[in-house]
Formats: sequence, C-alpha cells, structure tokens
Amino acid sequence: MTASPPSISIVGAGVIGLSCAWTLARRGASVTLYDKGQPGLGASWAAAGMLAPAFECGSEPGAHPDLFELCIAGAELWPDFAVELERQTGGTIGYVAGPSVAVAETEEEADALNRMRAALENANTPCEALSPDAAKQMEPALTGPVSAALALPTDGHVDNRAVCEALAAACGAAGVRFVMQRAVEPGEDLGSDVTLWTTGADPTLEGVMPVKGAAFSLRPSSSLPTRAIRFGDVYFTPHADRVVIGATVEPGKTDLEPSREAIGRLHARAAEICDGVESGVLQMRWAGVRPATADHAPMIGRRANGDWIATGHYRNGILLAPITGQIMADMILRDEASSLASAFSPDRFAPATA
Ligand code: GLY
Repeated sequence: MTASPPSISIVGAGVIGLSCAWTLARRGASVTLYDKGQPGLGASWAAAGMLAPAFECGSEPGAHPDLFELCIAGAELWPDFAVELERQTGGTIGYVAGPSVAVAETEEEADALNRMRAALENANTPCEALSPDAAKQMEPALTGPVSAALALPTDGHVDNRAVCEALAAACGAAGVRFVMQRAVEPGEDLGSDVTLWTTGADPTLEGVMPVKGAAFSLRPSSSLPTRAIRFGDVYFTPHADRVVIGATVEPGKTDLEPSREAIGRLHARAAEICDGVESGVLQMRWAGVRPATADHAPMIGRRANGDWIATGHYRNGILLAPITGQIMADMILRDEASSLASAFSPDRFAPATA
C-alpha cells in the first residue's frame, strides 16, 4: 500500500509559490495556496522578467559558489516550462530564449564585461565578444557610444506578469485551492501535513533582507530595443506590451514608491545608450522589493521548526521559479535532494552550535 501524498499549505502566491503549487499539485499533492493579497502581484509583478544566469551570476562578487550552476540549470528548464504552461492555459507568456546583449561605454564597464567573459569561458558557458558595430547590428535601437559588447546566449526573458497569470490559471486547473486576501501568522496551524513559506521579502523570515527595485516602462516602438540589453546597472527588457527599463538597487528599503529622482537617473542612463528613450511614451513607474540573502542565493529546504521554505531568490526569482518548484516537490514528496539543491539549504545561515 502506498502512502497518500501529503496535504500542503503554501504561504505566498508569488511566482515561486505558484510554481511550487503547480508542480506539487501535478505530482498528486493536495495543495492550498495562501496570500495576503492576490496571486503574482508583489515582487513577481514588479520584476522585469529577465532569465539571465550569465549577466546576473556569471561573475557576481560575494555570491554563493553554486548560484551560477543553479541559475544555468534553472534557465535550461525554461523552454519546456514555457511550452507546457502555454499548452495548459492556451495563452502566451512571451518566452524569448536569448541571446541578450551586454554593452559597455566606459573603460570600467568594458573591464566588467571582460571579467564576465573570462568567468563564463571558465565555466564553459557560451558568450561571444561583439564589436560595437556587430552589437548595433544585432540591436539597431542601440544608438549610444558602445566600446565593447557581449552576446549572452544563455540569457533570455519572459513576460513575468503573463507567467504569473498563466501559473494561477494552471494551478486552478490542477486543483490548487486559493485562499487569497488572507495573512498567515508565523507558527499558525493551517491544518495541513506540510507548510511551505514562499513569502518573498517577509520580515518574519530569518535571513531574508529587502532590496527595493524601482523601474519604469515605455510603450514599445521601433526605436526601442527588441532584445534584452544590459548596460552596467541598467537594463531593457522588451515585452509585447511594454519595454521595461530597470532597476534601482536600494537595500533595506521596503516602500513601494518609485522616487522621481531614481526613475530620472534610470531614464537618463538608458537614454545614453538608446536615443529612443527620450522620445519614448512613458507607461508606468513602479517599485518592488526583492528578497535577498547574504550570499544572493535562495534558501530552499526545511527549517529547524519543521516548516519548508523557498525564498531569497533576490534578482533571479522568475529564472528560478521552475527549478524551485521541482526541487521543492522532490524534497517534500520523495525526500530527495540533489547535491546542487542541498547546497541551498536554509541551514547554511544557521548559527554554528558549540
Ligand atoms: N532581475 C533584475 C532585477 O532584480 O532588477
């Protein structure tokens, strides 16, 4: 006789909670998803939708040593995940496989691209140095001074807002129960066998630090990029209905007000590399709060109190949503974890006992 799958309460209906819920429900678990608001309207909505292992983690100082491997493994799941999500829901989620283009203007930025290229080559990850002309041919909306460029075939993008809507629909079809507008207190008994916390930048979760990011979007036009562009700390992520330009990095801030100054700086920086920004039609400005950890990598696993946790995805929440769902389902339903998955245990931040 086989044991029946556990009943699972997931607290937090952002992209990570939704992906975990979908994966667990499709593997037979009975899943209830809670959120203090509505599905996918927090950091997952505020995100740009980039799927960028190379640019975000290829040479990130201070990052967990296995974060790049996790991000590459996460990116590899996206093509099938996107096809399956679109098949289940009949909608489109705007998945684009890449390459994205990273460009440099100053010597310092060119040095940073050289370091990234060396790190990627060292990790046998494809990347291609482009001449400034070749970069401008790949992306004609690049009109500013480019001194060096890299094509990053591993780095794509997806419409994060469409992904969350599709995941919510797919969860519903897979039998996930939604309990929305319902805050869950730490330690609250939800009456299920398992509780999984996917609450993002939640001040009650030890080890998670908030990092605000503000961004804005322009209406797509022929003078704006049609592929993802990285330019120092500014990026363009084009979607069917908006071109996102982001994002600030404001550690410790939790307010959702995109300041005029911050957006002004992003706008001016983006306009240096792309003339189309000046004449672009502003759609929206917004801010979200990324859940960061000390090593910029997620915490995925079981905590000392017996609850499960999947949060701290920082700048890679959309990228890591499919793999986090898989890891969590393997851990909870099969008691299995690869050595890669185990490296992201929340225990790594636990104080050492004497
Ligand atoms: N992934 C981009 C950001 O967090 O701004």
